Amino acid sequence: MAMTGVLRPGHVQIRVLDLEESVHFYGDVMGLVETGRDSDGRVYFKCWDERDHHSLVLRESDQAGIDFFGFKVLDNTSLEQLEVRLKEHGVDTTRMPAGDLLETGERVRFDLPSGHVMELYAEKTAVGNGLPSMNPSPWNQASENGIAPVRLDHMLLYGPNIAENKKIFEDILDFFLVERVLSEGGDAEVALWLSCSHKVHDIAFVEHPEPGKLHHISFLMDSWEKVLRAGDIMSMNQVAVDIGPTRHGITRGCTIYAWDPSGNRFETFMGGYHPYPDYETITWTWDSFPQGLDYPQRKLHETFLTVVT
Ligand SMILES: [Fe+2]
Repeated sequence: MAMTGVLRPGHVQIRVLDLEESVHFYGDVMGLVETGRDSDGRVYFKCWDERDHHSLVLRESDQAGIDFFGFKVLDNTSLEQLEVRLKEHGVDTTRMPAGDLLETGERVRFDLPSGHVMELYAEKTAVGNGLPSMNPSPWNQASENGIAPVRLDHMLLYGPNIAENKKIFEDILDFFLVERVLSEGGDAEVALWLSCSHKVHDIAFVEHPEPGKLHHISFLMDSWEKVLRAGDIMSMNQVAVDIGPTRHGITRGCTIYAWDPSGNRFETFMGGYHPYPDYETITWTWDSFPQGLDYPQRKLHETFLTVVT
């Protein structure tokens, strides 16, 4: 696949209640690599195998949740073209200045109909993964510290008007719909899994009355064994676990959901399949949603539908 335009989720800024407790959690328990702190007090992390400066930004606040998320685009020409297309479709954009996020170029920011703040950007300093680009070993010590996910993989966001979000992602940003869940009556889409790549999802939305909510940030693990090891580390550190280890029917991802110390849900996951844009969208009916969520247990976990930040 020749990837152009929007490449991948590049960063997410979340609010945490106690910064140093959260720095300990994401650094020592999750095993992310701290890469910087800025004059606003924000702390920056990356997963060990990510090349760019950061993928997770923590901001201390009295309320948990998500401030914004950003997708990296191929280059500045792509950024300008996508900004024009957004404006042509009636989406207001603003430019965030280079350096507002550490080591990051200008970002094109806009509001989604679901109440989330999204950004596109082309430039972020490549700091590498600690391995040489010539004759690298497959892993290093950073891949063994804590849970140590490979990368930020996707987010699931809750909010209203996801049908309008879908238009922006499909018609402007060139994502495709990989899977969906229909309402009880079958006449509306209540959950959407969208991809801009070969991944089973780069972002997902669930219809929900409150705008701008975070359901989870997902981190990719190398293997099912690494997901189980993540579960061991969660238990060793008294991390509050929501669901799993189990497998989703939807996306076929193998997963554990848990909460960070502020109550922001995160996922450690692996697996899924590799869709192409010409694949037919997979549809789940409402009565099969319990299997879609937890395939072995066929259980519609109450927390999945109700607990968001
Ligand atoms: Fe997920």
